[in-house]
Amino acid sequence: MSKIKNICCIGAGYVGGPTMAVVAAKCPDIKVTIVDLNAQRIAAWNDENLDNLPVYEPGLDKIVAQARGRNLFFSTDVDKAIEEAEMIFISVNTPTKTYGLGKGKAADLKYIELCARQIAKVAKTDKIVVEKSTLPVRTAEAIKNILDNTGNGVKFQILSNPEFLAEGTAIEDLLNPDRVLIGGGTDTEGQEAIQALAEVYANWIPQERILTTNVWSSELSKLTANAFLAQRVSSINAMSELCEKTGADVNEVAKAIGMDSRIGPKFLKASVGFGGSCFQKDILNLVYIAKSYGLHEVADYWEQVIIMNDHQKRRFASSIVRTLYNTVSGKKIAFLGWAFKKDTNDTRESAAIYVADDLLFEQAGIAVFDPKVEKGQIYADVNYLGTRSEAQNEKGITVFADPYEACKDAHAIAVLTEWDEFKEYNWQHIFDNMKKPAFVFDGRNVLDGEKLREIGFVFQAIGK
Ligand code: NAD
Ligand code: UDX
Repeated sequence: MSKIKNICCIGAGYVGGPTMAVVAAKCPDIKVTIVDLNAQRIAAWNDENLDNLPVYEPGLDKIVAQARGRNLFFSTDVDKAIEEAEMIFISVNTPTKTYGLGKGKAADLKYIELCARQIAKVAKTDKIVVEKSTLPVRTAEAIKNILDNTGNGVKFQILSNPEFLAEGTAIEDLLNPDRVLIGGGTDTEGQEAIQALAEVYANWIPQERILTTNVWSSELSKLTANAFLAQRVSSINAMSELCEKTGADVNEVAKAIGMDSRIGPKFLKASVGFGGSCFQKDILNLVYIAKSYGLHEVADYWEQVIIMNDHQKRRFASSIVRTLYNTVSGKKIAFLGWAFKKDTNDTRESAAIYVADDLLFEQAGIAVFDPKVEKGQIYADVNYLGTRSEAQNEKGITVFADPYEACKDAHAIAVLTEWDEFKEYNWQHIFDNMKKPAFVFDGRNVLDGEKLREIGFVFQAIGK
């Protein structure tokens, strides 16, 4: 197989954008074109003002500035990019199905199938098609079936190359990944395709971190990694509730167990619950796959991770209500943070959405401040739940551009995202302007509770 000169990536989202920007920055000899049907998103990627990129990630602006217009291009001309490329990444969304068979659990693969059909229609030369999206195990088979029926003699190789970046640290994760995983066919053509992709990554990633497997192992490894990571969060969150009952401190417990090298210290932060576009979706998908093979115990085991996470979000909201004398009706509750984690503008499945929904049922007035999330997104997130009218949501939620204004006259503050800047606020000033007693519910264990209590706050954290 000759060297790759042209790459096309379908899907200019949180994965396609940063991933391909790094490929272009590290491989100046390869032309990388990222295409999307969403013209507004493509325009934002092409915006001269790098503050307007559609994805916020630390360091992304510099990478885009380095490569854009040189060998990195963003376009809505999907067909042209497919035609030109020898290698096509599919990086479109694979959300949980909201209709029909597998509703609420299975991954919705309609966008993947559309891509495969479009590639089949347009391709005139042989292509390597790379699954970058997270997919159910054995999806490559379906893609291959579609591609192999074009009748025009074009040969396709399908690779699985799941992405392990985490939002907020995407650029660092892409520049210096723990590993890159490439799954492909075991025959000669499959191995050649794997090699072609491995050579792209070899421009900046040491050989020993490029792992190759068969396609099915690669597809399943991605779901497994997310399930294990989410399970750790649910495990420590389960212990956080027990800590609150027993006088143990979840941070101390996490430190004590994390020093066991078999357990390790990462991913043991108790929180208001995990969010993000991946964990819940991928575990639900895993549960669906297990059930479809009749593996009910396996399915139930993983489903418990989600059940625990839902419980953690719900009990945070009910603890606010209970502590505020069993009613928040007409009270102002300030939310610090709306994103599902710090250093991202992504709000998908953020715990904040569900806590807000519960408190709106209790007739609270919610005042939101987030350093990176736009106002319209916050309303869209709550409206998407469909639990009340848009007008009621607009009445119940006010979005502020200034954290001090959000907290002014509030009865309580709830920390929903662990943004670093929250630690640096003038908490005395915030206290002075709040209703008394002034409550803080730290859903991320980021604030200095002792200092806040000295100021006069009634302070509650997770797992303490
Ligand atoms: P996203 O929604 O941000 O982006 C997907 C993009 O694909 C959208 O802009 C959409 O317009 C575009 N698209 C959909 N169908 C298209 C088509 N037929 N032609 C052209 N464009 C099309 O999604 P994302 O967060 O980037 O996730 C993409 C995939 O990567 C998912 O499978 C996800 O599970 C996986 N993943 C995500 C993350 C993450 O942190 N977000 C990490 C690892 C893996
Ligand atoms: C995750 C995986 O980490 C990544 O490898 C995969 O490619 C995509 O899904 P992401 O969802 O972007 O990444 O962020 P992550 O850092 O995993 O956090 C997910 C959620 O768990 C966030 O809401 C975060 O706040 C929460 N979390 C994480 C905790 O509550 N405690 C922890 O210790 C770690």
